[in-house]
Amino acid sequence: MTTDSIQVDKIYTKEQLCLWERSPDPCAIVIFGASGDLAHRKLLPSLFYLQKEGLLKKKFPILGIGRTDLSDEAFRQKIRHALPSSDDAEKTLHFLTQCHYLKGDYGSLDFYRTLKEALYPLCHKNGFQNRFIFYLSTPPSLYSVIINNLGQSGLIHQQENSAQWSRVVIEKPFGRSYESAHQLNKDISKILEENQIYRIDHYLGKETVQNILMFRFANTLFEPVWNRNFIDHVQITAAEELGVGHRAGYYEQSGVFRDMFQNHLLQLLALTAMEPPTSLDADAVRDKRVGVFHSITPLNPRIIKNHLVLGQYTSGTFNGVLWPSYREEKDVSKKSLIPTFGAMRLDIDNWRWRDVPFYLRSGKRLAKRVTEISIHFKHVPSSIFKPLLAEQLSANVLKFRIQPNEGIVMSFEAKHPGPKLCMSTVTMNFSYRESFGTDQPESYARLFLDIMLGDQTLFARNDEVLTSWKIIEPVLAYWESKKHKNIPTYAPGSYGPQGSDQLLAKNKHAWDNDIFA
Ligand code: BG6
Repeated sequence: MTTDSIQVDKIYTKEQLCLWERSPDPCAIVIFGASGDLAHRKLLPSLFYLQKEGLLKKKFPILGIGRTDLSDEAFRQKIRHALPSSDDAEKTLHFLTQCHYLKGDYGSLDFYRTLKEALYPLCHKNGFQNRFIFYLSTPPSLYSVIINNLGQSGLIHQQENSAQWSRVVIEKPFGRSYESAHQLNKDISKILEENQIYRIDHYLGKETVQNILMFRFANTLFEPVWNRNFIDHVQITAAEELGVGHRAGYYEQSGVFRDMFQNHLLQLLALTAMEPPTSLDADAVRDKRVGVFHSITPLNPRIIKNHLVLGQYTSGTFNGVLWPSYREEKDVSKKSLIPTFGAMRLDIDNWRWRDVPFYLRSGKRLAKRVTEISIHFKHVPSSIFKPLLAEQLSANVLKFRIQPNEGIVMSFEAKHPGPKLCMSTVTMNFSYRESFGTDQPESYARLFLDIMLGDQTLFARNDEVLTSWKIIEPVLAYWESKKHKNIPTYAPGSYGPQGSDQLLAKNKHAWDNDIFA
């Protein structure tokens, strides 16, 4: 079965859907910022993966644009180093021959004429009409300039004519506040329709994150208990072992709330808490994600005081290495108050979630790189074991292991075999690797494929971005007001500052730190 044969008004067996190959029409991929880190670490290897796996049936020429002077050959050499070394030499060569490079001054309209002169023949030579993906992997300050110049030079084709189209991919951060995101939307919507804008949040491209919807809405077992009657609280952790490294310049302007909370963590929360969408249509799903954001109780200084914890990593030895403190990193101010860790409680004020705390935490230089969502169910209402048991029975916990050891784990109480009344908490484990025998593809590969296919489900819509900034802004205002003179610290390899535990202890909850084991 191919894309051509799938019909939305028909129904298919699960097997048929599995065989359904979503094969996009060929287009030219233009990467602004092609000599940068993201392009080499993620974008180009992901495009290579798509080609290698046969997901791109035709030719997809790639035009890298950067400010560095490079020949096509030098660009290809750089890409070659970025691709997995063990890969098939023939496929690598085939991919490299499709990569081209153009040096450009993003601010000069003249350059876009040159770009047009390079792009049109590239499409025609490969036998397709003018279909372009413009990927902006540049500093955010250039987004409006580039889009405006693309528009002025006639490189933005309207979507309605499906033979020719232009889609623009915008990397995070999309703005640095509600106001700036609003302004950016305003600027780019002079040139682009919403259905041409792909705002990337790479967490949405992770298989394990997409599976949250399958798990919730393709099974009868869980959705009936997915509410305040059965769920006590939810924990979402996105921890990293690495420090800020060479991105300190960016991070000093950003901090953990702009870098991780406004986008990745809020998206994880939205998928966990959203109502069932009416269909799999992009806007139907996005309506429900944004619906969660609208229901979040707005933070105010009183709530923030009780529900927010900030932290910054100090120096220390972890895994046998002496790591510098955040303030000792290159390009970081010695007096920096930028948080590298954040923990916060959010409440969703709707019928499903009223009084169920959602605890979110994220930080750099923690004990381990691990992202997990855990759903903590309520304790049994009455226990027949109470007269015999000194402690409370453990409540059921359901964990979405986003990364690593991708899978889902459900814990419950079980009896030990034998005559004694002996109980333990045991788990049912689903592992992607064991069940499907495959590693997780890079999330950018899936996102690229969706862009080629014109599917916006996994991309943030204008109102989604604006609402998420509204949620985070009071936190930014709190820390940027510099009312606090200091910031709590935490040691490398720890679980964050002490306040993080206290945040949950207020409600007799505790972080599930087994995830770091
Ligand atoms: C990025 C942040 O969006 O996500 C980085 O800017 C962070 O600071 C990264 O390290 C984490 O992504 P992943 O996929 O490694 O969890």
